Amino acid sequence: MDRIALNHRSIRRFKPEPIAYQALEDVARATASSEFLQSFTLIRVTDVALREQIAAVSGSAVLHERGGELFIFVVDCARDIALVPAGSDVHHFTNWNAFLAGCFDATLAAQNVLAAAERSGLGGVFLGSILNDPRRMIDLLHLPRYTFPLLGLMVGVPAEDPEPKPRLPRQLTVGENGYPAFDAAAAADYDATVANYYANRSAGARQESFTGLVRRHLTAALQHRDEIGAILAAQGFTLPQA
Ligand SMILES: Cc1cc2nc3c(=O)[nH]c(=O)nc-3n(C[C@H](O)[C@H](O)[C@H](O)COP(=O)(O)O)c2cc1C
Repeated sequence: MDRIALNHRSIRRFKPEPIAYQALEDVARATASSEFLQSFTLIRVTDVALREQIAAVSGSAVLHERGGELFIFVVDCARDIALVPAGSDVHHFTNWNAFLAGCFDATLAAQNVLAAAERSGLGGVFLGSILNDPRRMIDLLHLPRYTFPLLGLMVGVPAEDPEPKPRLPRQLTVGENGYPAFDAAAAADYDATVANYYANRSAGARQESFTGLVRRHLTAALQHRDEIGAILAAQGFTLPQA
């Protein structure tokens, strides 16, 4: 199996060297697409002031560095709506199915770009933290109705070489013909593996287990993300309210 795919690590420090960003944009454009609608738009951020404003939303130190290219993957149903006759019922471009298709297309394109970058010796990290303030992102990028800023991706020449994070074992993540029974012993083993990884990693060693990490998530300050439903409605998406 592809050793590079199995050796994925997020890279958060980059050398200030240019990369072939157009080739990566082409990879995004070539990605499989739900119903071939290609319901995403890719924005490359080159303006230093804009990148700093996005850094303020994300809180991610990687954006303050000089190296790396910043891409924002945007769910885009606006282009479809621009292509249909004025006055059409655009329900099929604004409902949950359309939004989900846009999420698939944007996410797969982003992962395709990161995988291609890794195969060429580059590295990167996704930035879901742009969702800390989607309204601000919509303003900063001048996003029209029927679009949504889903995911950021920094890609560049790595200036660090972190150890890969151990993943959940097969028993807990892979089923055959159905959902796998919860295996408490495998979870306990994985806690020990993760604790060992965090205790011994070369940068930012700390005491941590997977169960501890999951439990801390119960009290994570993510309340602002509850607003996302209202923001999607303001962008024109007609998702059912809970
Ligand atoms: C959808 C998504 C959003 C993410 N957002 C962030 C982020 O905002 N900041 C960050 O430093 N890492 C982010 N990451 C990277 C994860 O923290 C990372 O993939 C995870 O800890 C596993 O580590 P690894 O990628 O090195 O294997 C994100 C990853 C995904 C898939």
